[in-house]
Amino acid sequence: MKIAMVGSGYVGLVSGACFADFGHEVVCIDKDQSKIDRLHDGIMPIYEPGLDALVAGNVEAGRLSFTTSLAEGIKGASAIFIAVGTPSRRGDGHADLTFVHQVAREIGQNLANDAVVVTKSTVPVGTGDEVERIIADSGTRHRVAVVSNPEFLREGAAIGDFKRPDRIVIGTEDTFGREVMSEVYRPLFLNESPILFTSRRTSELIKYAANAFLATKITFINEMADLCEKVGADVQDVARGIGMDGRIGPKFLHAGPGYGGSCFPKDTLALLKTAEDYDSPVRIVEAVVKVNDSRKRAMGRKVLDALGGMEAGRGKKVALLGLTFKPNTDDMRDSPAIAVAQMLTDAGVEVAAYDPEGMEQARPLMPGVAMTDNPYAAIEDADAVVIVTEWDAFRALDFERIKTLAKAPVLVDLRNIYQPEDMQTRGFKYISIGRS
Ligand code: UGA
Repeated sequence: MKIAMVGSGYVGLVSGACFADFGHEVVCIDKDQSKIDRLHDGIMPIYEPGLDALVAGNVEAGRLSFTTSLAEGIKGASAIFIAVGTPSRRGDGHADLTFVHQVAREIGQNLANDAVVVTKSTVPVGTGDEVERIIADSGTRHRVAVVSNPEFLREGAAIGDFKRPDRIVIGTEDTFGREVMSEVYRPLFLNESPILFTSRRTSELIKYAANAFLATKITFINEMADLCEKVGADVQDVARGIGMDGRIGPKFLHAGPGYGGSCFPKDTLALLKTAEDYDSPVRIVEAVVKVNDSRKRAMGRKVLDALGGMEAGRGKKVALLGLTFKPNTDDMRDSPAIAVAQMLTDAGVEVAAYDPEGMEQARPLMPGVAMTDNPYAAIEDADAVVIVTEWDAFRALDFERIKTLAKAPVLVDLRNIYQPEDMQTRGFKYISIGRS
């Protein structure tokens, strides 16, 4: 089966490469000529473990190709995926659907055969109806079914998530849509990955509900962590203790500096807007958004406290280890590190930072922060070392070396990757999350 993937960003490229790996013929389309040129040269626009090899293998096998021409790319495709960005609209938090609508129009104008048009971009409830209207208005004579098929990929683990999904959600009540989508996902169906068919609007909402629920789980454990610090309890054990209850589950209960990334912050805001539009408030999600926003700044205060407070911090130096919103990505969007660095520099603290993949993206977002080539260069003369992102590279730091390099043995671990007793034995003042 031929599949066209419109939008060769994170979701489009990972999904396209994985579909090709299943044996489909896939064309990834993008308006950005330089991105397509680089893909032709085997250069990935993003850092995602395993993606370059997957793309190279499938290009070589003749199953995966790239083009800037939508008309060419969709020719003969039975399924045309829309995987373009839906950023937060400036000012109001609504998902900006400009690109989705534009692509729908172009598909309608260039369609040369019957096809299923699939929205993979995260889009608010009712977008499928709008896409259907736009395509119909373009006057195409071909049969078209518009289907919703949200993605649940995590950055850094996207290929595994695509190939071994917990579930595949397909929103359509159209027989043609259902038939084509079953064929698209047949290889996964054979792997016994559950496929849930729903109405289109339900499927669109499932995506937002899933992300909002996960963001809620994280925010819940983060607030429990604050409480643990006050009452002298251990949040890791609280998470374990509640996570063993099958109704709660152990995942997404890792306390930290607050969620970031390209999805949770944007999608929770968009869900609030939909709820407002339909006059059906989602107060829990409202609280989650507020609590998470203030948490990032609270992490900056935590570091200042470790330096002895706002006044004492002025003129001191902090080393930030890890800048991306999570490990195994170069994505800096809404990363807690931005707020932490901002607070510190505002307070007159000198900040040096190191991240294994994210420094290029971080540089423009963190004026005044010195980027270094390795963690130890950042640590030189530092009054405190702060682990912001739990990259594997920081899981076995050389503490003896840190003691000789740094001015003071102070470690603020915002991801709880070390043990308080162990750090104490090593002679460090150790501050972590939710462990007194
Ligand atoms: C998230 C969802 O997990 C995916 O299922 C979804 O497809 C994706 O958004 C999307 O909508 O495209 P992602 O943003 O890549 O994926 O990253 P996550 O692994 O979910 O982490 C999000 C944030 O939560 C990170 O800042 C991470 O550090 C934080 N987090 C996660 C915690 O603080 N604690 C946890 O226990 C888990």
